[in-house]
Amino acid sequence: MCAQLIKKVNIKTIKNLKNSGEKFSVLTAYDYSTAKYLDEAGIDVILIGDSLAMVALGYETTHAIGVEEMKIFTKAVAKGVKRALVVTDMPFLSYHTDIASAVKNCGEMIKLGANAVKIEGCSDYILEVIKRLVETGIPVMGHLGFTPQFLNTLGGYKIQGKTQEAAEEILNQAKQLESAGAFSLVLEMVPQESAKYITENISIPTISCGAGKYCDAQVLVSDDIFGKYSDFTPKFARKYGDMRTLILDCARKFDEDVKSGRFPSENEVF
Ligand code: KIV
Repeated sequence: MCAQLIKKVNIKTIKNLKNSGEKFSVLTAYDYSTAKYLDEAGIDVILIGDSLAMVALGYETTHAIGVEEMKIFTKAVAKGVKRALVVTDMPFLSYHTDIASAVKNCGEMIKLGANAVKIEGCSDYILEVIKRLVETGIPVMGHLGFTPQFLNTLGGYKIQGKTQEAAEEILNQAKQLESAGAFSLVLEMVPQESAKYITENISIPTISCGAGKYCDAQVLVSDDIFGKYSDFTPKFARKYGDMRTLILDCARKFDEDVKSGRFPSENEVF
C-alpha cells in the first residue's frame, strides 16, 4: 500500500473503536521485521512489551530490562511500523523514582518513534506520573490486574479481581487511571466476568491479556502465538503457528547441507 494512503492509528482511533463497539488487536513486537509483518497483517497496536526481557533476552522475569535496552527495541519496532499505534512498555524502575525522570525516560521513547507508553499500577504517585506525562504530550496506556513488575509483592503469577470486592477495587483504580488521562487499559489475568464489569463501567478501552472476551481489545505476546517461545505458554495464549519446529527444521536442513557439501550450490556463489 502507498505510504500516503495509510491512515495511522492514533489514540482517538482507539477510543472511537470502543464507542462504536469494534474490537481491536494488540500484539507485542521487539524487532524491525516482526513489527513490519504485524503492521502489514493489520494489527492495530504494536507493543514493545517488557516481556521481551523473558522472551527475547532469556531473563526469568521482566525486572531485568532497563531503559537503554527498551530504547534499542523501540527504535527497531518503530522503523518497521507505518499504520499501527506503537506503544513502549516502560521497564521496572524507569518511572518509579521521581516524576522528572519518569517524564524524561518516557519522552525518550517518543523521540525514538513510540506513539505512547504503558505503565503498570495505580498509586497516588502513579496517577501523578500519568497526569504529568499527558500534560507533556505523552499518551499513557495503563495496566491493572496482574502486573508483572509487582510479581514479588503479588506473591507469584496469580489471578486478580476474583471476588466482587476485588473487582470493585480494580474498577475504582481503572476510573482513577481514566481521570488521570490514560487512553486505554490492559487488564491482565482477571476473570472474564470481572473484566466485563470493569469494561462496561469505564469509557476508555480495556485490553484483555487473559481477561476474557468482553474487553474492547485482546493482547498476546507474539512469540506465544507464533509458537516460538517454548519455556512457558500461559493458558490464555492461543498458538497459531509452530515457529519452534520451523526454526529447528530450517536449521537442521542447513546443518545437513553444509556438512554434506550440498550448500552452497553453483547458483549461490560469485
Ligand atoms: O510485557 C508485555 O508484553 C505486556 C503485555 C503482554 C500486556 O505487558
